[in-house]
Parts: sequence; structure tokens; C-alpha cells
Amino acid sequence: MCATALFGATATLSACGDGRSEAPVNAPGPVPEPSGEGQVVLPAKDLPVKSRAQVAAKDPSGADVGVLLYRQDEQTVLAYSNICTHQGCAVGVKSPAKTDFYCACHGSHFDPLDGTATEGPAKGALTRFACTIEQGNILVYVPAEG
Ligand code: FES
Repeated sequence: MCATALFGATATLSACGDGRSEAPVNAPGPVPEPSGEGQVVLPAKDLPVKSRAQVAAKDPSGADVGVLLYRQDEQTVLAYSNICTHQGCAVGVKSPAKTDFYCACHGSHFDPLDGTATEGPAKGALTRFACTIEQGNILVYVPAEG
């Protein structure tokens, strides 16, 4: 259902109640498949199982990208953009909880297992990156829009 309001002789404002929202989604996105060239960001031995790290990578244009890592098990590392879904500050690994990702700007916490926001004003999950372990190194695949 749509509503239209008229303001003066020239302005018209319309709004449609279709249930859609521009709000960020706080659901874990699918783990992306590796594509393109992976970047070595850390030796795998430097990220023990159940630990977190913040590393630097580049997007295809050469711009710096902050990446958060979580070593789920011996074979699996999960990677996320460090851009907070609240207002864009850098999310890091220094957290009062000591087990999650944390944005110090306004106190949002994110689950390292899927990137979802768990506490604070952020309402959307962190963007996921593909990540692999090859020849003892952790590789991250940052897409063009990452
Ligand atoms: S920008 Fe991260 S909590 Fe506000």
C-alpha cells in the first residue's frame, strides 16, 4: 500500500509500505569461495586454533583493507572486513570479552564464528572474505568491492 502527500503546488512525497528496509542484515552471509589471487596475510602457525588476529590486505585496486581473522580449527580460518556495520569505524580484536571482535567507537561486538553483531549499536553482520590455508600460510581473497 502506498501513500502520497502533497506539499504546496510542486512537491509530492510518496511512500510505499512494502515491508522492505534499508537496515543492514544481521545474518551470517555465505562463506565466499576463493576467486582471483589470494594474498598471504599470516603464517598459519601464528594463529592458533580459537584465536583472532587483525591483518592488512589490499583490494584489487591496491587500496588497503583491514581484515579480521578467526582460526576455527586446524583446517579453517574465517575472514571478515574490519569495517563496522554501524558507522564504519575499524573493528579490532581487542575486546572486553576477549573472545570476539569489538568496535571501540560505540561498543559493538561481533561473533568471530559468523560475523554477526551480538551487542551494541551495530545491527549488521561483518562482510565475509574467502580465506584458505595453503603451504602453511593464511591467504585472504579480497573482492573489488571489499
Ligand atoms: S562505528 Fe562501530 S560501533 Fe559505531
